Amino acid sequence: MSITSTPAWQALQRHREALSSFRLDNALRADPARARSWRFEAAGIEADLSRSLTTAETWPLLLALADAAQLPSWREQLFAGQPINNTEGRPAWHTALRAAPADSAMARTVEQERLRMLDFAERLRSGQVQGSSGKPIETVICIGIGGSDLGPRLVASALGDVSGPVRLHFVSNIDPVELDVALAQARPETTLIIAISKSFTTLETLENARAALAWLQAQAPALDARRHLAAITSQPERAQAFGADADLVFTFAEWVGGRYSVWSPCGLPIAVAHGAAAFNDLLRGAAALDRHFVEAPAQRNLPLLLGLLGVWYVNFWGCRSRAVMPYAQRLRHLPAYLQQLEMESNGKRVDRDGRDLDYDTSPVVWGEAGTTAQHSVFQFLHQGTFFSPVDFVTCAGFERSAEPRERLLYQNALAQADALALGEAALTPSGKAKPAHAIVPGNRPSTFITVPRIDAFSVGALLALYEHRTFVQGVLWRINSFDQWGVEIGKQLLKQRLAG
Ligand code: F6P
Repeated sequence: MSITSTPAWQALQRHREALSSFRLDNALRADPARARSWRFEAAGIEADLSRSLTTAETWPLLLALADAAQLPSWREQLFAGQPINNTEGRPAWHTALRAAPADSAMARTVEQERLRMLDFAERLRSGQVQGSSGKPIETVICIGIGGSDLGPRLVASALGDVSGPVRLHFVSNIDPVELDVALAQARPETTLIIAISKSFTTLETLENARAALAWLQAQAPALDARRHLAAITSQPERAQAFGADADLVFTFAEWVGGRYSVWSPCGLPIAVAHGAAAFNDLLRGAAALDRHFVEAPAQRNLPLLLGLLGVWYVNFWGCRSRAVMPYAQRLRHLPAYLQQLEMESNGKRVDRDGRDLDYDTSPVVWGEAGTTAQHSVFQFLHQGTFFSPVDFVTCAGFERSAEPRERLLYQNALAQADALALGEAALTPSGKAKPAHAIVPGNRPSTFITVPRIDAFSVGALLALYEHRTFVQGVLWRINSFDQWGVEIGKQLLKQRLAG
């Protein structure tokens, strides 16, 4: 039975019709406590849902939909490593990378490879990893794409500078420009190329790695390239056949999805840039959010509520666009990361049994760092012909920061959230009628999310929050969030063209 045939879905449809004249300015004015009481917390992360297109009646109806979709059972299967990725017959066990089931062979394997990766990162940072000429490695060029790039790039950048003690470069596109820029700043004898690829078959990654090795050989023929190449993959034999020595290959299991792999040895760039302790804090933050997701009552369960709210907007308000606006420059890569996490996970058109869906699934996810985005896309958000729910993501510490520009950043985010929600009602009355082109309609929802600090623990919790929000929506939509068959045709057509 389609989820749309369930009584819970039909009750939400009736509820939505009853909200045809709902306005956020009225709701917030009618219940002054709403701004305070509609706040939820998980692992230090706070979310203010008071600017959502909901009433007190909405949430029990949404929670009933989660029960109709058997969310608790699916969540148990996720954490138990059941093969919920049904088209590939695999678990989606990224939670085991941050808190493996105690005393299991798998836990020992995961722990052992993590310790090996972290030890290598610390040796790199302390100049103990030398190239074949005996000089310490000073530059690391991380070559990967999609989940083998977006997570490491986001977290490494979020935690601060990536230029010391070892200078990091991230290369993903097959366009030579990215790699050329990195190589221009590197010396062959002190450079390590890290090829990050779960499959170790991704064309862009292998071609860029070959180009980097060719550069190394051309610039310094005497070097032993095998000592300047590391690999992170679930296919170690492919990496060794490509030219990496076994002691420089770090592996993870096939049940780790690419877009869920930042917690695996794919996180090596994070540990190189910020140390093993930071990487362990990242895992601790994600594990804290995992515990919240498993243990928190449904009414206070943040990933569940955010996932339900996403379904509410897509399937009952017709939203096909969703904006994520990090009001923190160090989180500037968050929209790109969430594009893959959400759109590659839930951009699906058939259910788990292969039946066409009669409802929408993933919206288009996009975004830009604020306040920059205020000078490019907020016109569309305020006065476009349709609305896009917005996630504002910022740092609670900015509100009272000693740095005035951080305080301004925070106040800008709040001002934009109020403008979207309240429109003209947010302004102090001027007494002058406005022409139509100047009217901002308001009634446009947002979720205001804050991390206490932009540190490894909080970033780990934030990414796990969005992972589980994505999972909740996939369960409600009855789709497999953990495969990505849609990307194969492009690869096949490329092969056809190249063979042609
Ligand atoms: O886009 C398809 C995809 O397989 C993603 O799911 C993955 O993150 C990316 O390509 C890179 O894959 P790999 O890590 O195997 O190189």
